[in-house]
Amino acid sequence: MSEFKVREDWMAFCLPDVSEAEVASIAEAVRSGWWAKGPRTIAFEKQFAEYVGAKYCIGLNSCTAALHLSLAAKDIGPGDEVITTPLTFAASANTILHVGATPVFADIDPDTGLIDPAEIEKKITKKTKAIVPVHYSGLAADLGEIGRLCDSYGLFLSEDAAHAVETRYNGELIGHHPRGAVSYSFYATKNLACGEGGALITDDEELAQKARVLSCHGMSAGAWNRYGKGGSWRYDIEEPGYKYNMFDLQAALASVQLERMDDMQRRRFECVDVYEKAFKDVPQLRLQKTPAYCHHSRHLYILRIVPEALTISRDQFIEELKARNVGVSVHFIALHTMSAYTRRFGYKPEDFKKAYDFSESEISLPLYSTLGVEKAEYVAEAVLDICRKFAR
Ligand SMILES: Cc1ncc(COP(=O)(O)O)c(C=O)c1O
Repeated sequence: MSEFKVREDWMAFCLPDVSEAEVASIAEAVRSGWWAKGPRTIAFEKQFAEYVGAKYCIGLNSCTAALHLSLAAKDIGPGDEVITTPLTFAASANTILHVGATPVFADIDPDTGLIDPAEIEKKITKKTKAIVPVHYSGLAADLGEIGRLCDSYGLFLSEDAAHAVETRYNGELIGHHPRGAVSYSFYATKNLACGEGGALITDDEELAQKARVLSCHGMSAGAWNRYGKGGSWRYDIEEPGYKYNMFDLQAALASVQLERMDDMQRRRFECVDVYEKAFKDVPQLRLQKTPAYCHHSRHLYILRIVPEALTISRDQFIEELKARNVGVSVHFIALHTMSAYTRRFGYKPEDFKKAYDFSESEISLPLYSTLGVEKAEYVAEAVLDICRKFAR
């Protein structure tokens, strides 16, 4: 067997896809003299709502803001419980705490990493007001079953679609005429990126109106309405809101990225093909399954090691990849093991055993549109080299 040859330069875990179109769009926005929320944000909101097929889109500065607003606009607060997954980024549960409600975790399906509807049902009490499923890594959560629970128990559905711009459930894009609210992230590493950014999607007019007002201090009129010709300087503060709005320099990038998304997705899929072919039937590795109802957006490539089949731990596996100049990440360190949550709720790792085991064996490999097949092949070879060297 030939010796694995380590490449000379470091391979980033993720890089944004910057074409001349992004550069031209941002330059035009900067030169326009209107940098705050204005015509580009409004145009992007329309473009994104049309793309997913929903009535309302509120452009925001993050998915965190969208998640928070979705709950705040439904008056969810102290005394209420909201169910979410422990296999997620902090924002999904932190925002439940931000409105004063209690996050309640429901364990996952270890084949996918998605929240398990059967586990959700076990956690529903009289205090439960909402469910925040996460479309983890770009897979769709089981919206059919979760929707059924919302109907049966009268719960609000706030989908965390930070990874799911291109994800489909039964052929329809996530966010396509949603039953509640859907929150997206346009953070620098996401499939549609503008550095920092997000959006809240809904078909509910009242929710949209409330979230929009709350997204900009609770003001009755934004700057674009006030400073434009014919605008009025007068405004009211309807609620003590937040400073969460998207602004035009973000929108200038986001609108171009949205136009380029199919092409970017195609190139990520080429890399996924390389990984899937290389790793299938490797006893040291376990691949993520895609439910039949789902089109995976492939935001993240989720690989799990089989600890019993290796002489090294997952952390050592990551060090071996780093030694081969491959940047990787972990999605996610199970949230219930973080000190903010153990301190407040006294959780132990085994309280959500499936999420914990998943989290402790997971490695996210580089996956982005500018990676290219050649580098993906290198990453795959590096993984296989480690599996061979450390097979039990
Ligand atoms: C699952 C999930 N939800 C929410 C967020 C928060 O997104 P943002 O950084 O846009 O606030 C992230 C961020 O990566 C995430 O992974």
